[in-house]
Amino acid sequence: MYICLCHGVSDKKIRKLVIEEGITDIKGIKKCTALGSQCGKCVRSAKEVINDTAKDLFKQAS
Ligand code: FES
Repeated sequence: MYICLCHGVSDKKIRKLVIEEGITDIKGIKKCTALGSQCGKCVRSAKEVINDTAKDLFKQAS
């Protein structure tokens, strides 16, 4: 599913960045993609994807 329609950034891509690059905030995602740089509507959903992924990782680790 696309989170950022303006730049074609998917939830998969965001999850990958969180898991493989250890990115845990929107700033980090913005550094690696163009997410949020146009209309900005995707930022809230992107944050949810980051948080959910980070939670899953934490659960797996504990
Ligand atoms: S949907 Fe991401 S900047 Fe517009």
